[in-house]
Amino acid sequence: VTVELDAARPGPQVSPMLYGIFYEDINHAADGGLYAELVRNRSFEDNADEPEHWRAKGNAVLRLTSKGLLNRVQGHALQVTFGGDGDGFYNEGYWGIPSVQGRTYKLSFWAKGRLKGKLKAYLGCGCGKRQFAEAEFEGKQFSGKWTRYEATMTSSVNHAKAYLWFAATGKGVMDFDMVSLFPPTFNNRANGMRPDLATMLVDLQPKFFRFPGGCFVEGQDSPDNAFRWDRTIGPVEERVGHMNVNWGYRTSDGLGFHEYLQLAEDLGAKPLYVVNVGIWHGGFTPVDSLQPWIDETLNALEYANGPVTSKYGAMRARNGHPEPFNIEYLEIGNENNQPNASQQSDNYYRRFQLFKEAVLARYPKMHLIGNVAAWGTDTPTWDSKEQVELLDEHYYRTPRWFAEKFHHYDGYDRQGPGIYVGEYAVTQGFGKVGNVNAALGEAVFMMGMENNADVVKMASYAPIFANINETRWRPDMIQFDAGRSFGTPSYYVQKLMARNVGTHILKTVQHNPYETKADEVKMKPATCQVGVATWQTQSSFRDASLTTTANAPGKQVDRVDVSGSWAEQDGVLRQTSYADGAIRLNPNRFTSDEYIYRVKARKDDGREG
Ligand code: AHR
Repeated sequence: VTVELDAARPGPQVSPMLYGIFYEDINHAADGGLYAELVRNRSFEDNADEPEHWRAKGNAVLRLTSKGLLNRVQGHALQVTFGGDGDGFYNEGYWGIPSVQGRTYKLSFWAKGRLKGKLKAYLGCGCGKRQFAEAEFEGKQFSGKWTRYEATMTSSVNHAKAYLWFAATGKGVMDFDMVSLFPPTFNNRANGMRPDLATMLVDLQPKFFRFPGGCFVEGQDSPDNAFRWDRTIGPVEERVGHMNVNWGYRTSDGLGFHEYLQLAEDLGAKPLYVVNVGIWHGGFTPVDSLQPWIDETLNALEYANGPVTSKYGAMRARNGHPEPFNIEYLEIGNENNQPNASQQSDNYYRRFQLFKEAVLARYPKMHLIGNVAAWGTDTPTWDSKEQVELLDEHYYRTPRWFAEKFHHYDGYDRQGPGIYVGEYAVTQGFGKVGNVNAALGEAVFMMGMENNADVVKMASYAPIFANINETRWRPDMIQFDAGRSFGTPSYYVQKLMARNVGTHILKTVQHNPYETKADEVKMKPATCQVGVATWQTQSSFRDASLTTTANAPGKQVDRVDVSGSWAEQDGVLRQTSYADGAIRLNPNRFTSDEYIYRVKARKDDGREG
């Protein structure tokens, strides 16, 4: 193959926003992942029946109490009855707490009650006998009033799976809440991020940071399980947290709206906020009652962008960031325009219109992104007269699909909306933790996006993170446990591509003497009677054969109806004259939704193409 580059006449500009990050709290991406908190179920809200992830030490008795709580958002606290010296309790963290020699940890907790003697806190091994880092509190410090206590402790030992222990030296009864342990964080932010994982994000040099999802935006079963920005800001003990039903665990919302915006700033990426349009998995707010959801969005934007004199801008300043964060990109819903789904797509276009009008009235320069069908189609469309700047396409497919979609965007209307490929990844045929084949497929697709970067303005691989101890979605490009992390081959493709984006598309002419054109046909037996594949040869072929390569790999095509200059020999279709051709395929013989056919041809000199 020869490719001619015409560098003297650069084509359209490549979008400077092309590559960014899709972040969603999936597979413990936040709690037990990027969010650096080491204590699991720190607020005792994960399970109303028992203090999950906490255990008693010695003869201590642990029980959840819902009386005399720290504040009105708390549902439970942990009540501990210490019977004497050595009694206590411990937390196992997110599949262990890494103790690193020389590392200083910040411990804090709220407590009330009475204790004789001392309360010792320490990082220790699983049996609690070996102590790696410790801090002490005098029993007389405690009273009947909820008070926050803190201490630092420095570890003297490396241990991958330590626990956080508390042990008393005397009797007492105490209530505990919001027990927290932080290692040093990325950029030393309070309530911050795990440095190794955040650094892997920085290394991608992302132009934008999309948050908080994904399905996490929508939630499931109840609107209370959706991401509600105003419940995720302020002191952590005042954040109620919510059930992340979509991905099977409770989230503390310690990584909340403010932290997302702060992280985007630390990454040098523009924040892209995805808002809920009154739709969650399993239900929705009728379109004529949407105003509260619209107000919620406007309030979020005021928090992020408003002056400190505004109600929510002042709140942002109180939370430590007087300068606006400047959200410039807003996506209206996540995967909510699904023509074939039932409730979930209820009136998407009308919802889009209402949000759009309200947002642009206050923020006329906001870049708005609309949803298109996300599953089951390779050609999602925007079927509305409503003007939209960018459309969010999602593709989770095979390595082959991606590799064969190099030309996917060639035919897109240059006058139409721009494309944001908001989620894409090989999710079939990738091995357990991703592989090079998957990464190469994605790379070819990305090269096609870049070639069409006048249409494809933005793109983000998805999802990013997976804690290997509880992975609901695979493969994810950054995988980790409590102390270690690695990038899959897809991560390194993202890094390579994002760090080497050009400024202009150069016109290319590709010469391939063996190339056949239009050698693919998709057949949908339910909707079409006969599939026709046609092609033009760019030069004459000695012979050619037709084989399936997709759903029936390696098998010869089962065919009945042939026209053009082809004949069947020994079960293989062969071209008998050297001209353009066509094949008609009887759909009754093809039961799958979609086959891909490839023509293999041989030149006189025997070379194949
Ligand atoms: O990326 C994983 C999920 O895939 C996202 O939550 C959702 O938007 C998509 O269906």
